[in-house]
Amino acid sequence: MRTFIAIELPGEIKKQIETLQAPLKKTGAFVSWVKPGNIHVTLKFLGEVPEEKIQEVFDATEMAVEGTERFNMSLKGTGGFPNLRRPRVIWIGTGAGGEELSHLAKRIEEEMEKVGFPREKRKFSPHFTIGRVKSSKNIEQLAPQVESARFETEEIEVTEVVVMRSQLHPAGAIYTPLKKVPLG
Ligand code: 2AM
Repeated sequence: MRTFIAIELPGEIKKQIETLQAPLKKTGAFVSWVKPGNIHVTLKFLGEVPEEKIQEVFDATEMAVEGTERFNMSLKGTGGFPNLRRPRVIWIGTGAGGEELSHLAKRIEEEMEKVGFPREKRKFSPHFTIGRVKSSKNIEQLAPQVESARFETEEIEVTEVVVMRSQLHPAGAIYTPLKKVPLG
């Protein structure tokens, strides 16, 4: 099973993201826009996990989360990876809660390494992917709009971490929560 560990968003925030995406879609840029229902922040991407190993992943996630209290998080700012001139990914960043997310990601890396998942080489950079760029067509229309979007949400309480299954389909991934691990 293709698996990752993430934090999900409440419906109210997903609606705000939908409102943000609407004018960006109209630019005609070749972007696969992530359905608001699918938008999340990934703490750790595990890739293929054999079914017989999934309980170990659940247990390691519980170990990693233990001792971390609930915290507040806000979504803030928009940009592109690696940059907005030649973006591959369009994202929303975090405002409040960035440090707590990094702490959780670090704890998850540590516990997953113990059960055989290599550490992520790239530095953890918390983000919510809202679009994946498919070609450079009309990027010059999109980039200034992303840059000037001024997106910022109220703070929301993060109460759980989710071990998620991802099934890839041409029409968009299907994410299914396998295990929800509460904070605090
Ligand atoms: P992304 O949002 O930056 O694309 C489900 O695919 C989640 O896992 C996405 O949030 C995605 O991050 C992340 N992901 C997918 N493939 C990955 C990889 N090879 N390395 C790290 N994260 C990955």
